[in-house]
Amino acid sequence: MLILGIETSCDETSAAIIKADRNDNKVKLLSNVVATSLSLHAKTGGIIPEVAAREQIKYIIPVIKESLKVLKNPEKEIDAIAVTVGPGLIGSLLIGVETARTISYIWKKPLIGVNHLFGHIYANFINDLPSTIDHLPSAAPEFPAIALIVSGGHTDLLLMEQHGKTKWLGGTRDDAAGEAFDKTGRLLNLPYPGGPYIEKMAMGINKDIYNFPRPLIDSNDFDFSFSGLKTAVLREVQKTRVLDNKTTAEICYSLQTAVFDILIKKTLDAALKYNAKSILLGGGVAANQTLRNEFKLKIENYPPAGGLKIELCVPTKSLCTDNAGMIAAAGFFNYKETNWQKITVNPELYFD
Ligand code: KG4
Ligand code: ZN
Repeated sequence: MLILGIETSCDETSAAIIKADRNDNKVKLLSNVVATSLSLHAKTGGIIPEVAAREQIKYIIPVIKESLKVLKNPEKEIDAIAVTVGPGLIGSLLIGVETARTISYIWKKPLIGVNHLFGHIYANFINDLPSTIDHLPSAAPEFPAIALIVSGGHTDLLLMEQHGKTKWLGGTRDDAAGEAFDKTGRLLNLPYPGGPYIEKMAMGINKDIYNFPRPLIDSNDFDFSFSGLKTAVLREVQKTRVLDNKTTAEICYSLQTAVFDILIKKTLDAALKYNAKSILLGGGVAANQTLRNEFKLKIENYPPAGGLKIELCVPTKSLCTDNAGMIAAAGFFNYKETNWQKITVNPELYFD
């Protein structure tokens, strides 16, 4: 079957076509078009919802048209439409959902509402081109799996027993991991969004000079807290007379190390507790190469002899950040039709 995916939950406008058959355990991406208004938000140091939505109104139709170019007769060939219904910015979500329901009505196609957060997990169920494979195994992830979603708005750990059977284990009590990077990036005069710039700055450093706190690392639950790190960085910035390149790079390295230590420790604790066969990473922060490498290293060297028999699954970097391919994949594996008249956006959508 062919599914058209539509994603507009934040500042991206994306449409994708996936191909999958009933017994497939991974979907094939035929197209995945992403338009972003990031450069506009970089000017203001953060997303202004109104600005994002106005851009999305301009992009949505051309983006969908572009994604459909891989098909000869889209109206005939498409079997269903999957669209993000939440969480996200209400104005942005409405653009995707209203467009999807219109196409559903005109083309008489089933509509599937998708939770954006599950979308990030399902980026791991997309069969990618060999040239872009990183740690992505060719077989589908095995269950039970532990999923770590690390994005700009969320940090969550989930146990996945099978498709459609998940249990939320814990999440951040305050800032998300990506949000911590974006906020500290601003303190360090780095462009928005901070995450990729912090990664770049940290690259030449290999010593954790600042040893920032690791909140909740030994809390024996699966909750996270990153807002204190922002304050810790602010204190260092205030102490420093001149925030030169070297100091900024050292702060970035220490910050990244603290955040990743916590993410990896909690995820491995969950994987051991629930006898997970795989760990699935997803969300913009999972595009960070240091995090990908560290996860792999910790799994291979835990405990010192032998390592853990857990497969680490990480989507290709372009599938870590928001895209419609992952939404279409989530729709395929959790196929549940919603009437076009009944579908609604839910900006506060979380996990059941
Ligand atoms: O998943 P995403 O595209 O959007 C949300 O759903 O939030 O994630 C965006 C977040 C931002 O906070 C950004 O700073 C972070 O992902 N990010 C990174 C990297 N690339 C994006 N964080 C660390 N290292 C990166 N390379
Ligand atoms: Zn996202």
